[in-house]
Amino acid sequence: MVDIERLSVGIKGFDDLIAGGIPRGFFVAITGEPGTGKTIFSIHFAWRGVLDGDKVIYVTTEESRDSIVRQAQMFNMDFASAIDKGKMIVIDALLKTRGDEWSIEDLDIEKLVEKVIEAKKKLGYGRARLVIDSISAFWLDKPAMARKYSYMVKRLLYKWDFTTLLVSQYAITTAEAFGFGVEHIADGIIRFRRAIRNGVLKRYILVEKMRQTPHDMRMYEIEIINGEGMIVKGPVELRREDITLPRDVIEKIRKAKEKTEKETTFHTNLK
Ligand SMILES: Nc1ncnc2c1ncn2[C@@H]1O[C@H](COP(=O)(O)OP(=O)(O)O)[C@@H](O)[C@H]1O
Ligand SMILES: [Mg+2]
Repeated sequence: MVDIERLSVGIKGFDDLIAGGIPRGFFVAITGEPGTGKTIFSIHFAWRGVLDGDKVIYVTTEESRDSIVRQAQMFNMDFASAIDKGKMIVIDALLKTRGDEWSIEDLDIEKLVEKVIEAKKKLGYGRARLVIDSISAFWLDKPAMARKYSYMVKRLLYKWDFTTLLVSQYAITTAEAFGFGVEHIADGIIRFRRAIRNGVLKRYILVEKMRQTPHDMRMYEIEIINGEGMIVKGPVELRREDITLPRDVIEKIRKAKEKTEKETTFHTNLK
């Protein structure tokens, strides 16, 4: 038996999908459209770290530190006191407040890593959790560098005993996915999705990859409950219309295709 140390994510029903938790030291990509639950998932992971005595660092680029603290508070996770007690540091990369020790002034990946290591030194020796929410912003202006940097970042963070969640947006239009290259070096990929069912917003989670783990292959419905947080409900059975394009869009594509085919035949006949 291979014995793997795993970190609980702290979400009811989720750890079971990945054989008990995320293997220590892993670099896991969290991806999905806006509002699908990526930040709330990450907040759970961070809070569970506090409860388990891990050193926790949360980097926020799209919301302020206050916003993250308040969001956690809604699920009865007291980030403010964890910060006070030196168990956790939230690095604010949005407000860039001058003089704030845990704020970074520009979105530079090397400066970020420096700051994270500084924070780790402050929190002390031992097992640590890191969330970067999100990583997309750091590489927007230099996608070519992303791959090279992500290797460097991965190696370095592993050395400092971090188990890392890297949140990134999913670009539906390009299908290029997230984080410019993160997916290639990620030890795990957790994808969030959303859909409207009978006029109601539904959210789903799917473990697409988790190295060294016999993970669940099904997509699960999740729910975010006030005062409680995220819970994993049952697996979903997708119907064809759930994953294909709307009928009128398909019809348009079909017509366009027909038209080009006709034109091609016409030209061929002329030759
Ligand atoms: N207190 C709450 N109770 C219930 N649902 C909430 C609460 N706070 C936030 N949400 C839900 O969570 C969503 C935001 O999720 P979030 O994890 O921030 O998304 P993402 O990071 O993927 O953009 C909100 O749009 C809302 O639907
Ligand atoms: Mg978010």
